[in-house]
Amino acid sequence: MTQNLAATSRPDAAPTAQDGAASRDWWRNAVIYQVYPRSFADSNGDGMGDLPGVRSRLPYLRDLGVDAVWLSPFYASPQADAGYDVADYRAVDPMFGTLLDADGLIRDAHELGMRIIVDLVPNHSSDQHEWFQRALREGPGSALRERYHFRAGQGANGELPPNDWESIFGGPAWTRSQNPDGTPGEWYLHLFAPEQPDFNWDSPAVADEFRSILRFWLDMGVDGFRIDVAHGMVKAPGLPDIGGSEQLKLLGNDVMPFFDQDGVHEIYRSWRMILDEYPGERIGVAEAWTPTVQRTANYVRPDELHQAFNFQYLGTHWEAAALREVIDLSLDSMRPVDAPTTWVLSNHDVTRHATRFANPPGGTQIRTAGDRELGLRRARAASLLMLALPGSAYLYQGEELGLPDVTDLPDEVRQDPSFFRASGQDGFRDGCRVPLPWSGTEAPYGFGPVAGGPSWLPQPAEWASLSVESQTGDPTSTLELYRSALAVRREHPALGGGTEVTWLDAPEGVLAFRRDSAEGSFVCYANTTAEPVRVAAPGQLLLASGDEPVVDGGEIVLASDSTSWWAV
Ligand code: GLC
Repeated sequence: MTQNLAATSRPDAAPTAQDGAASRDWWRNAVIYQVYPRSFADSNGDGMGDLPGVRSRLPYLRDLGVDAVWLSPFYASPQADAGYDVADYRAVDPMFGTLLDADGLIRDAHELGMRIIVDLVPNHSSDQHEWFQRALREGPGSALRERYHFRAGQGANGELPPNDWESIFGGPAWTRSQNPDGTPGEWYLHLFAPEQPDFNWDSPAVADEFRSILRFWLDMGVDGFRIDVAHGMVKAPGLPDIGGSEQLKLLGNDVMPFFDQDGVHEIYRSWRMILDEYPGERIGVAEAWTPTVQRTANYVRPDELHQAFNFQYLGTHWEAAALREVIDLSLDSMRPVDAPTTWVLSNHDVTRHATRFANPPGGTQIRTAGDRELGLRRARAASLLMLALPGSAYLYQGEELGLPDVTDLPDEVRQDPSFFRASGQDGFRDGCRVPLPWSGTEAPYGFGPVAGGPSWLPQPAEWASLSVESQTGDPTSTLELYRSALAVRREHPALGGGTEVTWLDAPEGVLAFRRDSAEGSFVCYANTTAEPVRVAAPGQLLLASGDEPVVDGGEIVLASDSTSWWAV
């Protein structure tokens, strides 16, 4: 299935993106935009987004003002988990295009001065991966089985799973395979869906293969990798029982025998050496759900990866004291390892922040629409707060349009495998994956080329008014707020990278901090309360997420649930 880039030369990375002093440390303050290819733009009208679609919209991303684009997986995949089940790591799935399309996309992005980060899924493959298929065909004793976790079952006839681990998507983390003669055989481990067997990272063949895959994409010119389940590859020796059920609930608090094992760091040290061999600064970003920000910092020690997602920040509600605590904790945890702090509010796995904040605090999987107006007001304020913090920020496609989650998708259109594994009790990630509205008054709102054409998930009728076209040029729109915020962030000398904020005194429920540089200072106010609040006027207004603060003598009135930026 591997595709070849026949007769095309390897792209040399564009000077703007990968060479020269200008690119030094680009990742320390980068704004990185996540494209979920299935739902971004569909060039051929089959209802599924694709790489030519992304390519055609790159100027939109340049104009938005992002530094880099992270693409969720577009590799050959049966799509049992929306592409996070990879059958061939060096091929583009035909539903998304070809390797030539990937090549063109990387080149175009570089020409526009943006970098490209691709997703790497090293914890598991698809069950359709050639290795796994051969392992099944060859039966117990096959050397290929060493590359996964095959084990005999427990019980008189091996009818019970080898240990008590549960899948993140619900049910046991083991599935029993069939022997080549059709009789029940060994069990294999899958922390996610049964179609996603876990690799055995003790196998040198697995480690070699991934080093080669890294080089393949680095040779294609990509600027980095977002590493899926970066905390999962190494399992505790002997695969010990956990001794309790509802293991998912333990995830945020305890080190589990399948997550955040110290052995993963060896892998990142070897990958860092490969990344550093390439010109420009190619980066690795860990998707590591660890119990604490301090443990997350282990992934970004100087000889490991460059960044790790800050899920503790993502999980914090719109509440000043809690936000201040997580901001301090995040900055303090990253300082000793000299890594930039990252900030993120939404991605393809969690309820969009416009919907989280429309509801009472309740985690990252919310199933009710809540108070939409309140949610949007807070989401705009939260985004402006995030973009004022020192470090690198991640945006998820559609948040710049203020999109809410679609909470009322009918069950029959859902595709999230965890919805089905958990008998419809869990797994509502489709709600944040609905295709983007670009233009027009009829679905799919410019997502596909033809009005009335298909989209793999239905878009709500009210999304016509949320489209890029509807919001462009409207100074009150969320899209224009993001455009302005990213432009100010680029221009103001005290914004962007850095490791410090200076907290200012503020009334309860209000966050106020200052950032200083030799060329000018900056103040951010975030009022997380439902009431307007009076504070001292700090300087000249740069941008506000809500109604412009009213200046009254030496004081200003901050609107409820709003953030404002000030030049000092
Ligand atoms: C990561 C991805 C998620 C996927 C899972 C299994 O958490 O972000 O979408 O389902 O890994 O690959």
